[in-house]
Amino acid sequence: MNVLSQEYSAPVPASVSRPFPTDFLFGAATAAYQIEGAAFEDGRTASIWDAFSRVPGAVIGADNGDVACDHYHRYRGDVALMKDLGLETYRFSTSWSRVRPDGGPVNAKGIDFYERLVDELLRAGIRPWLTLYHWDLPQTLEEQGGWTVRETSERFAEYALSVHDALGDRVSDWTTLNEPWCSSFLSYTGGIHAPGRFSIGDGMLASHHLLRGHGLVVEELRRRDPALNLGITLNLTVAEAADPAKPEDVDAARRIDGQFNRWFLDPIFRGSYPEDIVSDIRAVDPDAVARFEAAVHPGDVDTISQRLDVLGVNYYHGEFVGGSAPADPPLPGDAPTDRVVGSPWPAGDGIHWYERGLPRTAMHWEVQPAGLTVLLERVWDEYAKDAGTALFVTENGAAFDDETVVEDGDVRVHDADRVEFLRGHLGAILDAADAGVDVRGYFYWSLMDNFEWAWGYDKRFGLIRVDYATQERTFKDSALEYRRVIAARAID
Ligand code: NOJ
Repeated sequence: MNVLSQEYSAPVPASVSRPFPTDFLFGAATAAYQIEGAAFEDGRTASIWDAFSRVPGAVIGADNGDVACDHYHRYRGDVALMKDLGLETYRFSTSWSRVRPDGGPVNAKGIDFYERLVDELLRAGIRPWLTLYHWDLPQTLEEQGGWTVRETSERFAEYALSVHDALGDRVSDWTTLNEPWCSSFLSYTGGIHAPGRFSIGDGMLASHHLLRGHGLVVEELRRRDPALNLGITLNLTVAEAADPAKPEDVDAARRIDGQFNRWFLDPIFRGSYPEDIVSDIRAVDPDAVARFEAAVHPGDVDTISQRLDVLGVNYYHGEFVGGSAPADPPLPGDAPTDRVVGSPWPAGDGIHWYERGLPRTAMHWEVQPAGLTVLLERVWDEYAKDAGTALFVTENGAAFDDETVVEDGDVRVHDADRVEFLRGHLGAILDAADAGVDVRGYFYWSLMDNFEWAWGYDKRFGLIRVDYATQERTFKDSALEYRRVIAARAID
């Protein structure tokens, strides 16, 4: 055998190193209510999540964020862990109820916490990526109507400007809203998240007032400082028809795409709400649409559709849907096929989720890295490219039933499934970049295990394990893997 044929017959290496673009940012994400704790310290008052988590049955295990990861007191140690991981950026949110308790005047002690956190991050060489609203509306404002009331957009802008007054000299990356689908439809229509309402009209109004608040903040921050990196983060999905030959399945996919993706992307990038979805809802609840149309004042869509520097994409899983109930019963442990939870409108309107044999996380969410490539390409081509808006994956992660083992006296978490999840999704981002998508960063959700909303502390998404009894933090294998990737700026 000559040398050449030996080379050709040698097994293809299982892995080839794939580098990330030099300016690609590696980060991790958290949110105030999920990690801070210190719920009633230093002047902070209740948010809708403090109230909702006390409603019997609202949160698994009756858990709440009173203590959470105690990050409010342990932020220095947490930043040290981020530095040890090699994070280049850290996405966190500020708590409205800490900065302006009850939506009232600025609370110096509350804002001081974020000043200390940002200073600590900067000292560690980590770029702060600040989200202004990660679902924790002051409860007092909810009692005045919450996001169904137009003035809440103005209150949000006031709060955002107070955060900018304090941190504008040190923070350049500003995200207005995190996943407004969740803080509108999942919260005001689905009843699953705070404030736990069940009204289609309220969900529609909330979505509009959230987006209007986003627009007001972008307008004012842009005016104050044109150099800021301004954006919004959306939870986006890829909806596939179970059988593309069946019109009812294709229609189910259209509606899911409309409800989750286009309902937000269209007003932001095109200045209009998707007509097909408005008419779908009109067929179910004409009064809701009448309230919504009355709430959209002239000029609102211009406020909403201002140019953005960044679109944050949160991607967890796709949707495989059809128009009629699948013949086979769902596998044990699968998400219900007729899911009211994930759908903003009542079930029974012909959207059913199908099983397609992909692995699933502890949330029962499919693991489908290829969906992230499809999503990034689609959002880039149809929305962001022409607007000159860069994409960042501002959340992606997985909960698994982590087990701890003690080895040589040390606690270890061998979370091979999360390692694979991480590598798969980073590869999917590189695939999108290779296809020409301007995707500039990745934030794993989450830096550490935390309060997973209606699931309480039951679901662990972290790279870092949190022992809630002792508040001890431990790097999982996935954290060690992420550290290797960041150091190499490449995946195998
Ligand atoms: C999206 C949300 O932004 C975050 O708060 C949540 O914990 C993760 N998804 C996981 O569900």
